[in-house]
Amino acid sequence: MAMTADRIHQTHPFLDGRPKRMLIDGKWVEAASGKTFDSINPATGEVLAQVAEGDAEDIRRAVAAARRAFDGSWSKWKPYERQQVLLKLADLVEQHIDDLTMLDTLDMGAPITRMRGGRRRAIGMLRYYAGMATSIHGETIENSLPGEIFSYTLKEPVGVVGAIIPWNGPLTAAIWKVGPALATGCTIVLKPAEEAPLTALRFAELALEAGVPEGVINVVPGYGETAGAALAAHMDVDKVAFTGSHLTGQKIIQASAGNLKRVSLELGGKSPDIVFADADMESTVSGAAMAVFSNSGQICSAGTRLFVERKVYEEFVGRVAEFGKKLKVGNGVDPEVQIGPLVSEQQLDRVTGYLDIGKREGARAMSGGERLKGAEYDRGYFVPPTVFADVRDDMKIAQEEIFGPVISAIPFTDLDEVIGRANATLFGLGSGVWTRDVSKAHRLAKGIRAGSVWVNCYQAMDPAVPFGGYKMSGYGRESGLQQLEEYLNVKAVWIKTA
Ligand code: NAI
Ligand code: MG
Repeated sequence: MAMTADRIHQTHPFLDGRPKRMLIDGKWVEAASGKTFDSINPATGEVLAQVAEGDAEDIRRAVAAARRAFDGSWSKWKPYERQQVLLKLADLVEQHIDDLTMLDTLDMGAPITRMRGGRRRAIGMLRYYAGMATSIHGETIENSLPGEIFSYTLKEPVGVVGAIIPWNGPLTAAIWKVGPALATGCTIVLKPAEEAPLTALRFAELALEAGVPEGVINVVPGYGETAGAALAAHMDVDKVAFTGSHLTGQKIIQASAGNLKRVSLELGGKSPDIVFADADMESTVSGAAMAVFSNSGQICSAGTRLFVERKVYEEFVGRVAEFGKKLKVGNGVDPEVQIGPLVSEQQLDRVTGYLDIGKREGARAMSGGERLKGAEYDRGYFVPPTVFADVRDDMKIAQEEIFGPVISAIPFTDLDEVIGRANATLFGLGSGVWTRDVSKAHRLAKGIRAGSVWVNCYQAMDPAVPFGGYKMSGYGRESGLQQLEEYLNVKAVWIKTA
């Protein structure tokens, strides 16, 4: 196992031992300060690469480059030309998808099987945005003013976009921000997460190869408190697109106040997943388990509050726990592994902290419940699939986002009751309903206050279908027409005829 990891580490074409530089104005440069930080493989603890550590000065340079590009030749590109460059980029990503997904696996731990499953999504997103590039248009609008005044709207790119992304899906997170920026004619400064910056850098190389002009995409790796904060506060950034924790989201809003830049926020959740006794048990067990255990629970919309109808509660929760115990946990480069490590020591401490809190609060661990130890596990940050039973709504493990493979299972009796309890959270990102009764499904789909409701499935995602939050899970939408609007301004034009 460890052998495999070392071999792949050494032979990954992007990991050549040289420090990774940042991309500003089409050039690969060191940080102004000369500083670097280590990017670590969370399965082994080994350093994958040293990465240029950007801070406020690098952000200033990158934003200046993005502004020049926005005002310069990029603004003259026709929609068809932006479409062509996005299609070329999609082709290059497709050509290099094995290396890109392996880089994600090495840098943040997700099993390669999962990353490979996501390849269609990554490439499909780019081709969707390519299609959208030639579909942006304003409207002509009849007005009721006296005389002859013609009125219409123009859709214009919002300008320089600051994108701040998390580490839980580096490739798709980068595409989710760069794609709409290129489609609409914006320029972008991307700040990848310090935990997993490598794939964004490799993706940016491919963007240059595809013919994206200098300054249109800039990538500045660095820490949130320095590089991220500088980007969020910068007076010449027109919009910040952020994905991450709600606490950082609040800081982004405060930082945006200086120039009242536009902000879109895709934040965390404590999503309810509701199982009725009439559901198809076989598919619901695996569905509810993987709604949380996928990516080791490091998914913003994970269905972590598992509400189960009381008459099947014990049996169902037991089966989910058994399902979790059978999942193979280990280094994600192994194609048999289903659950990889957590991304960092910090996340390990956070998640194991919640495991202790759960036990102290009186929840019953039916599986997992402790860090995995021994042999290869000691080198990385491994937590097994964990199911807590006897969870009450007021427990911390039922209220706060854990971001680990931890299910809090809660019994319920009645439909209206479970709607109320499902909504008794600060968040509103995802939600699941498992039932064969179509009227129950409709009532829940209407009753739940969340941006997505999945019925008899979980975590279905498509580039054309909007995704985002209610309440403290954020605002703005990603994917779909709604996302493009986040990157566009509307201008009204009035023309009085003689
Ligand atoms: P975070 O929200 O602090 O980090 C996400 C991104 O924001 C990173 O690029 C980071 O560098 C940047 N950032 C951090 N502080 C910033 C600031 N003051 N100004 C501008 N940018 C800043 O999340 P973190 O620390 O990685 O994880 C902590 C918890 O947040 C997790 O346990 C999880 O609960 C939640 N989270 C949720 C995610 C989601 O997809 N909704 C993704 C990552 C984390
Ligand atoms: Mg890393």
